Amino acid sequence: MTRRILPGATIGVLGSGQLGRMLAIAARQMGYRVHTYSPEEDTPAGQVSDVEIAAPYEDLDRVREFARHVDVMTFEFENVPAVTAAAAASCVDVRPQGAVLHTTQHRLREKGFLSRNGFPITPYQPVNSLAELRQGMKALGCPAILKTADFGYDGRGQVLIGCTGRQDAAWDALGRRQCVLEAWVECECELSVVAARGFDGGFAHYGAVRNEYRHHVLDVTVAPAPVSEPVQREAVAVTRDVLEKLDVVGVLSVEFFLTRDGRLLINELAPLPHNSGHFSIDACVTSQFEQQLRAVCNLPLGSTAQMRPAAMANVFGELWEGGEPDWAAAAAFPDVKLHFYGKLEPEPGRKMGHLTALGDDAAKRVLAGRDALTRRTHQG
Ligand SMILES: Nc1ncnc2c1ncn2[C@@H]1O[C@H](COP(=O)(O)OP(=O)(O)O)[C@@H](O)[C@H]1O
Ligand SMILES: [Mg+2]
Repeated sequence: MTRRILPGATIGVLGSGQLGRMLAIAARQMGYRVHTYSPEEDTPAGQVSDVEIAAPYEDLDRVREFARHVDVMTFEFENVPAVTAAAAASCVDVRPQGAVLHTTQHRLREKGFLSRNGFPITPYQPVNSLAELRQGMKALGCPAILKTADFGYDGRGQVLIGCTGRQDAAWDALGRRQCVLEAWVECECELSVVAARGFDGGFAHYGAVRNEYRHHVLDVTVAPAPVSEPVQREAVAVTRDVLEKLDVVGVLSVEFFLTRDGRLLINELAPLPHNSGHFSIDACVTSQFEQQLRAVCNLPLGSTAQMRPAAMANVFGELWEGGEPDWAAAAAFPDVKLHFYGKLEPEPGRKMGHLTALGDDAAKRVLAGRDALTRRTHQG
């Protein structure tokens, strides 16, 4: 029987961004200690952890040393190198397991897993050369989207190729490396399901939520998704099947396209809490971060019951372009919750925080709250 990791024990986290920060906050609330490891200092996760180690992921001696001081290890960053996860796993349990990371951090391996198991996915072609890109465009039609096989996130490492688009320019722009070419899906909307699986095979999910993207980056989530019951049920059933086939212990999110003719296609998997699950902090009995902890610590999963409808809007670095955002104006919405990640440099496109609104008109309120951040009534 796998050991239970109980409050008082130390959770190790590889990666130090906002997901690690929210995980660390949940862990501390439950009385765990948190150690984080990433190449940077004064990070979103490090700021709220007991110990922050700044060292390269490739320094495997440091990774092993780090692992020896924690009781269980998880990660908050999907692109942690597989060798790093393996070095950690030689000293301590790592959840989700390295095999899950190996599959999901590489788009071709992920798509291979999904298609072998009969999951519905976007038509795609592997691309290893400009000639293969040209062949792929012929096979899939236009527009199509070229994505690097690894190290992509938040819309980075992908280029949309239109019908008159320069294929050689797209190939160059992504650095002439292994890619996947996907047919562009004209969809009704995008959905995602965040779910967890425990050591004992227990399953919990947060239902399907609707996601709106801007420039290929998540902008707004509405929970629950305003879709039919059968679509909700199918999205959850497919997600459960993915967690089981991948034998995940931890939280995993599935991103879907809902096509205009009502089919659900899997876009991608992330073996982590997901930006689209942030609403669960304020709206659900158990947040996705507490759920990840429960799963990796071999505790029973918590209730995912959603207490109120919710909407979440990301706050990006460009909001700082005209000066410091007007926090007080956003806080004047009493049902809007502010979350900021402690990032030091507000670069355009960078996720600096998010807002969550609760209630029947949550989608409208969260956008009003975000607009208020830039209203800047008090000048000078
Ligand atoms: N084949 C596609 N058809 C339509 N939209 C796509 C496609 N691939 C990506 N996108 C858009 O770009 C977003 C980000 O792409 P995704 O593959 O999920 O990369 P990331 O790892 O950056 O999240 C998607 O959520 C969607 O809005
Ligand atoms: Mg995505």
